[in-house]
Amino acid sequence: MRNLFRSLRSLFGGNTANPDHGQLDPALPPQWIAAIRQAKLSYCGPPKLENLAEAGTIVRRDRVVGRWLEAGVALGGSAILLAQMKPARTPLDLHDVFGLIPPPGNHDGPDAHERYAVIAAGTSPGIGGDPYYGYESDLLLKVKENLRAFDVEPDTGTVRCVPGLFEHTLHPDGPVALAHIDCDWYDSVRVCIERLGPALAPGGIIVFDDYSSYSGCRRAVDEWRARDARLSVVFERRSLGLRRTR
Ligand SMILES: C[S@@+](CC[C@H](N)C(=O)[O-])C[C@H]1O[C@@H](n2cnc3c(N)ncnc32)[C@H](O)[C@@H]1O
Repeated sequence: MRNLFRSLRSLFGGNTANPDHGQLDPALPPQWIAAIRQAKLSYCGPPKLENLAEAGTIVRRDRVVGRWLEAGVALGGSAILLAQMKPARTPLDLHDVFGLIPPPGNHDGPDAHERYAVIAAGTSPGIGGDPYYGYESDLLLKVKENLRAFDVEPDTGTVRCVPGLFEHTLHPDGPVALAHIDCDWYDSVRVCIERLGPALAPGGIIVFDDYSSYSGCRRAVDEWRARDARLSVVFERRSLGLRRTR
């Protein structure tokens, strides 16, 4: 394990390859995605991580000013990609309950309730045979260890973990340039849209990881698309990227 972390450090180079804004070497994100997947730290498959990297590349290229943010961190895999991609001085906030995922609600379909029943029963497998992250006794500590293994400092730099329910913690106090919403259920996605939609900077992008994966996420996003004419589609593949045009 120590060797793996050492090789990750040399690959990431302590963020020195990543100046403030502007173009990023396009060879880097695929290497980072491969390393994150190899370390079994993300539920997002390569296509979704590639979509997220595409959104980050656009926001950097166009120098959209504002914080980067993730709602739904789990073990920290996609958060590590965001931390490595962001402009060096841009804040990155990582929001999660850092425990067992809250249950789905009345606006979610059977897909979500069936998945949650397995989680609540204590029988969900983790990634590649590992334990399921929601059963960890101290998930926040584990996530911070995972971030540090990739040379992302979660306590003293521009990256911070924000533990708690989004309902309580999501109050952005400035513009948001890029948000990754990866929290499965309708109520969670909806509260993210309500809090982050008005804060999204012109040119800013929100990526919805679960648009094609969970009915409640799709419903919450479609409700937003129907009432906000300022949004354009950046990509609609395994995940959905929406950009504020004005
Ligand atoms: C699918 S996982 C995130 C996966 C992660 N992005 C990755 O790279 O593997 C969803 C996460 O969202 C969190 N979550 C969902 N709804 C939440 C809410 N309302 N408040 C706080 N955390 C929430 C869950 O606890 C879980 O850690």
